[in-house]
Amino acid sequence: MAELLLGQTLGFDADPFIEGPGAARIDTRGGVLIEGGRIAETGPAARLRNAHPRARVTDYGDALISAGFVDAHVHYPQTAIIASWGKRLVDWLETYTFPEEMRFDDPDHAAEIAVRYFDLALAHGTTTMCSFATIHTASVEAFFAEAEYRGLRAVAGRTCMDRNAPAALCDTPAAAEAESRALIRDWHGRERLSYAITPRFAPTSSPEQLESLGALWADHPDCLMQTHLSEQTDEVAWVRDLFPDARDYLDVYERFGLIGARGLYGHAIHLTARERDRLRETGAGLVHCPTSNTFIGSGLFDLAGLARQGQRIALATDTGGGSSFSMLRTMAAAYEIAQLRGAAIHPAQLWWLATYGAAQLLHLGDRIGNLAAGLEADLVVLDLASTPAIAQRAARATDPWEALFATIMMGDDRAVRAVWVNGAPVDSAAPTM
Ligand code: GUN
Ligand code: ZN
Repeated sequence: MAELLLGQTLGFDADPFIEGPGAARIDTRGGVLIEGGRIAETGPAARLRNAHPRARVTDYGDALISAGFVDAHVHYPQTAIIASWGKRLVDWLETYTFPEEMRFDDPDHAAEIAVRYFDLALAHGTTTMCSFATIHTASVEAFFAEAEYRGLRAVAGRTCMDRNAPAALCDTPAAAEAESRALIRDWHGRERLSYAITPRFAPTSSPEQLESLGALWADHPDCLMQTHLSEQTDEVAWVRDLFPDARDYLDVYERFGLIGARGLYGHAIHLTARERDRLRETGAGLVHCPTSNTFIGSGLFDLAGLARQGQRIALATDTGGGSSFSMLRTMAAAYEIAQLRGAAIHPAQLWWLATYGAAQLLHLGDRIGNLAAGLEADLVVLDLASTPAIAQRAARATDPWEALFATIMMGDDRAVRAVWVNGAPVDSAAPTM
């Protein structure tokens, strides 16, 4: 049966970084018609009601219906160590992250954390995520199996690393390639799942490993490739020591065929002019992880400057380096960091980075990320007065973006009234733990 959801609706006609905030529309009395798991039509509520008298109607009143959030860079295995105190990147990895990731050789642990992660992501309105796993095949299988069970569109990859990490977390170039290849065969393109080839970052891969993963990507050019780039200045210096012949950090990836339009580069804070130019020329995706960048003390991503340059950018939580599962909180942090750099990002632009812009970075813009006919019906419905503080500010607003901005800056999972995945409501947006 067709489902007709009514409420305020937010959709994009174009990229608001290119066309300006007018490229996004909030219809204060809109509707979304869903048929067969897809969005069949959007438009004014009254017109859709008249045109589809037999559709089952869910009226969300003045709640906001949007495409579900897309989190373009997360580490689901780090769910249990989110908010770990007092370290910067390399110490944080060694103290908290690597010991936890070692536990994912146990399929039961991987399955338990995957369930917990998806509960939390959905409770925060995130319907698609692109995740790092660990070096264990079981960690990727647990993620994909759980995503498939829930009908989610999701991306993940086996994290490959063969040096500068504890022995229990080091593979070999041959094992990493063979296991990644087998996972691509088993999961890439199955149901709503797709695979991202995943070298963790330059310091934890030997040249041989980077080379073999570059070759693997050349064999599977429709896969994404995800990694980290220039997150902290100490890390950039370390990469210079490890790869003295490389022109810069990005050049390490470039030399091994690990750059391209389907490449996703997490953080990308401390970039040289050459790196910026090269990223733009290749159409690579930059993934801004603002709560992580403040939490681990990494630096201030140049969102406005990079957007002006025509870079492709998405937002991400980077859980558990990031300090939140919420894309609302992530938008707020992106706004604050841009302010520290002298730029005010419009709410329409923040929303783009957390939905349709992120979907395009994942090369899923023809499937998800917007309220538009033909796209898959992954939706979040948000209460724009979810706390007394937000409600009183929204009541004072003189236009819909001003009202929404209060939820962007102060909202969290309490704002999530409903989540729809593949055209069906998710039973409960609350975690089942
Ligand atoms: N660089 C390499 N691995 C990681 C990770 O797990 N988290 C973050 N934030 N940066 C990394
Ligand atoms: Zn990361």
